[in-house]
Amino acid sequence: MTSVKGDVVWVLDFGGQYTHLIARRVRECGIYSEIVPHDVSPDEVLRRKPKGLILSGSPASAYEEEAPKCDLRIYELGIPILGICYGIQLIAQQLGGKVVQGAKREYGRIKLTIKKPHPLFEGFGREFICWMSHGDYVEKAPEGFEVIASTENTPIAAMVNDEKRIYGVQFHPEVTHTERGIDIFRNFLFHICGCTPSWSMESFVEKAVEEIKRLVGDERVICALSGGVDSSTTAVLVHKAIGDRLTCIFIDHGLMRENEPQQVLKVFKEQLNIPLIFVDARERFLSKLRGVSDPEEKRRIVGEEFIRVFEEVAEEIGGAEWLAQGTLYPDVIESAAVRSPASRIKSHHNVAALPKGMKLKLLEPLRNLYKDEVRKVAELLGLPKEIVRRHPFPGPGLAVRIIGEVTEKKLKICRRASAIVEEELQKAGWYDRVWQAFAIVGDDKAVGVKGDERHLGYVVMVRVVESVDGMTADWAQLPHEVLRAISNRITNEIPEVSWVTYAISSKPPSTIEPC
Ligand code: XMP
Repeated sequence: MTSVKGDVVWVLDFGGQYTHLIARRVRECGIYSEIVPHDVSPDEVLRRKPKGLILSGSPASAYEEEAPKCDLRIYELGIPILGICYGIQLIAQQLGGKVVQGAKREYGRIKLTIKKPHPLFEGFGREFICWMSHGDYVEKAPEGFEVIASTENTPIAAMVNDEKRIYGVQFHPEVTHTERGIDIFRNFLFHICGCTPSWSMESFVEKAVEEIKRLVGDERVICALSGGVDSSTTAVLVHKAIGDRLTCIFIDHGLMRENEPQQVLKVFKEQLNIPLIFVDARERFLSKLRGVSDPEEKRRIVGEEFIRVFEEVAEEIGGAEWLAQGTLYPDVIESAAVRSPASRIKSHHNVAALPKGMKLKLLEPLRNLYKDEVRKVAELLGLPKEIVRRHPFPGPGLAVRIIGEVTEKKLKICRRASAIVEEELQKAGWYDRVWQAFAIVGDDKAVGVKGDERHLGYVVMVRVVESVDGMTADWAQLPHEVLRAISNRITNEIPEVSWVTYAISSKPPSTIEPC
């Protein structure tokens, strides 16, 4: 389903690391943007009529034979095109200019000088700081192009062809290090493409509710709630559209965070007034997991059991025609393999793989949104802050944060220690600054002293990471006093633990979850 009306701008994806960031900046300007494959056909462009095209960056070199290119006819459509980094190089290469490898990479904050005023730089002074990250550069602009900005090492830092409505910048306006980079997007979107802002979360909610009503008609919908912001927002949105023809199912698999099941129950029943079928399946999952220590096997078991429980409950309530899911835009892009298909590192458990035999139609009202946009929608819909701001949590829950066999004892330690990590980050004002923060426990034990006694206790590993989308991540450089408070509390409050360590590996080469 799509709930988008109004102007659309496309970002052609050449595999650059900032492609999603470009799309998000455009949305921040109030214009809906979509990421499309770099070789999208001109017919498709004419059919869908985006108001502008942005060519993304890429790790490739535009002069190489096998470099990703766009169809040459795209340049003849008269739709404004803005090339960023690789984008400007590709324009130069494809339209008769020259791109070469620089003597050295230009990287970081660089002073840029505007040589000629242009609508793209409207409101800017003669100089500003931009963010550069390139090895190749445009040595010669194609015929008909005018160079309007340069830096010390990059004579062609921006070039334009007003007649053909093609523009290029070597720097990255989408990165916050570029001063007022967002204004370059505004100038492109409003002065050059002639867009009218129409993308806001308020208008999204209105249109999404209308569309759910239209699609579902008088049929019924079921939704598996996880307590996370995506499935909760989906449920509230669908409920707003069709009321009690929505049935929410919450399966407590015993692998949730501390107090999470109770919190979800309370929020949905008491605050939001949305009926919820609560299934206590703790014993079922835990007995299936007994004796299993292989990470993939644990994931498989939780995923399969989840489907079974879900199917049983769905049958009990007499079925439904639709399954509502909290799929987000980055998942849609990844699964459409617009980008290079990454190898499967872990088999992620999510509801997409759910009831095969049930022939449910999929209702995915958030499939055009980024996570931060979902959080805004959640706020607008009145979801409480604890759910709106809560960190992402994997489908198989604590089973992937317990190394080796999942036992009651390790579960108890992992759950309490994670709650302590979260509490201390909240207290220190760090919770909202990081992507995820939790504790990991395995079978390693280490000697400690408690009172005057030697004590062989569990080792708890604390993992706190910063990330934009979970695809790459870095460990958070927490202040020492926050780490100290976490460590002290874990060893003081959980008698079975004698050591606390901090995980300082980034992703890659590690992953965020240990299993
Ligand atoms: P990894 O461990 O692969 O995790 O670096 C990347 C992000 O994905 C989350 N994750 C999952 N989410 N089902 C989910 O819905 C899963 O099976 C799953 N496994 C990992 C993880 O928490 C991190 O945010």
